[in-house]
Amino acid sequence: MKGVILAGGSGSRLAPCTKVTNKHLLPVYDKPMIYYPIHTLVSAGIKEILIVTGGNSAGDFLKLLGNGKKFGLKEIHYTYQEGSGGIADALSLAEDFADEEKITVILGDNIFQTNISKYIRSFEQQDKGAKIFLKAVPDPTRFGIAEIKNKEIVKLTEKPKQPISNLAVSGLYMYDAQVFKFIKQLTPSQRGELEITDVNKFYLKQKTLTYETLTGFWSDAGKFDSLFRSSTFVQQHYQDFDFFN
Ligand code: G1P
Repeated sequence: MKGVILAGGSGSRLAPCTKVTNKHLLPVYDKPMIYYPIHTLVSAGIKEILIVTGGNSAGDFLKLLGNGKKFGLKEIHYTYQEGSGGIADALSLAEDFADEEKITVILGDNIFQTNISKYIRSFEQQDKGAKIFLKAVPDPTRFGIAEIKNKEIVKLTEKPKQPISNLAVSGLYMYDAQVFKFIKQLTPSQRGELEITDVNKFYLKQKTLTYETLTGFWSDAGKFDSLFRSSTFVQQHYQDFDFFN
């Protein structure tokens, strides 16, 4: 399966650090943030990756990652998201790269401890649809949130003011080729972005949205507190993250 890393956006929640560089190039402990999602994909056997970047310092991704060989990649592709149209808008740029195949998508600021190989295998077996990954969090107003009944997802809400559960939808998604058709039907949310949660709602309505509950550490690193938490976790579990030196 091919992988897509979404590494655009203005990174405003990490200002002023992101005034002069891209969020995903900032360090999480001793490595640039983007190394972690690359590692998550590579360690699951993904050999072809598209990086969708945007905002500041786009050229620095090429300087840092080159042709991807040092990460064990066969091919690394780059594209550029103009403006800040949101995660789903960034993903729309991957349509030709995906070439009608299933894809694994990961947000460039998400740090996963878990090896996702088994999930990729299970999604390859899934007839059609999408798969998302849930994790209980203490601060559910910050995330896309899933409500589960009888082991099935019944509702998805982006950053609910009054959360119905504490199950966050992490920034790891597996989609079939319908995803690009669904993105074309989206309209911008109140924050002016095409929301990935709205994409997932299409699959929920189609009853083809499956999920897994994540074991192990997961955090985004997009705010100072979560960046600090991620760095501390990596430092304390160094052996899990000792890669690409
Ligand atoms: C995005 C998604 C949200 C998801 C989160 C995971 O939020 O919109 O559904 O739970 O990533 O990191 P954002 O980082 O855009 O606030």
